[in-house]
Amino acid sequence: MRTRSTTHKDIDELLRLQKAVYPTIAPWRRDQLAQQLEVFPQGQLVAIVDDRIVGCASSLVILWDEWADEHTWKEITSAGTFDNHNPNGFTLYGAEVFVDPRVTGRGIGHALYDGRRALCRQMNLRRIIACGRLPGYHKVAAQMPVELYAKKVLWGDLTDPVLSFQLREGFRYCGIMYGYIPEDAESCSHAALIVWLNPNHNPGKPTTLQEAYDKEQDIEL
Ligand SMILES: CC(C)(COP(=O)(O)OP(=O)(O)OC[C@H]1O[C@@H](n2cnc3c(N)ncnc32)[C@H](O)[C@@H]1OP(=O)(O)O)[C@@H](O)C(=O)NCCC(=O)NCCS
Repeated sequence: MRTRSTTHKDIDELLRLQKAVYPTIAPWRRDQLAQQLEVFPQGQLVAIVDDRIVGCASSLVILWDEWADEHTWKEITSAGTFDNHNPNGFTLYGAEVFVDPRVTGRGIGHALYDGRRALCRQMNLRRIIACGRLPGYHKVAAQMPVELYAKKVLWGDLTDPVLSFQLREGFRYCGIMYGYIPEDAESCSHAALIVWLNPNHNPGKPTTLQEAYDKEQDIEL
């Protein structure tokens, strides 16, 4: 298994896979994926086994101060187009990650998260932030509020297929993002706000995106 940058040729396979992962949530459109690749190609990764795509992780860079209040997935991804990708930001935002349901639990999610952490380090970004689904919540939603569910996952009393994985990947839980994906019935529409801080971040240096942006401005002047 390996990870590599996503290309335009991968789009059809990715759309098919996404449909299998989320049978009840509308998949991306072809034009949205194509635009993500135009806007921030470095942030789009796929995992490959035997020449077949078995997972993907897509990210954009944002100015977190603009988004720290409540937001939905649709808002922070500009409806899946990543139009709000901001080269001046310090935060890699995880917009999506999924693995072929036939091969979960074999380290593919871990490899994709490793790819994201490597990107964050290479670009000298301060952190990775994401809002993770809570697909186990619907099973106990009648018995407890979502905040208690998340705490029980943190305390180790409950296991959530996504949040438990993200905590193992070194992410810290920061609270609930209410109504993040309204059509996500399994998570009762909520998500867990999580962060991973880049231990190698050098605040005295610009990010590689800021550097490239500044150079472009100099050339235009
Ligand atoms: C969440 C998700 C991306 C994780 O992907 P994955 O490939 O299963 O992740 P990994 O295999 O790296 O790790 C998953 C678990 O398997 C375990 N595992 C990893 N390699 C393993 C191996 N070789 N043998 C047995 N177990 C293994 C890990 O310890 C981990 O356990 P944990 O969940 O208790 O922490 C995947 O389940 C998924 O696509 N879910 C549906 C889509 C979704 O909701 N995405 C999240 C959007 S926010």
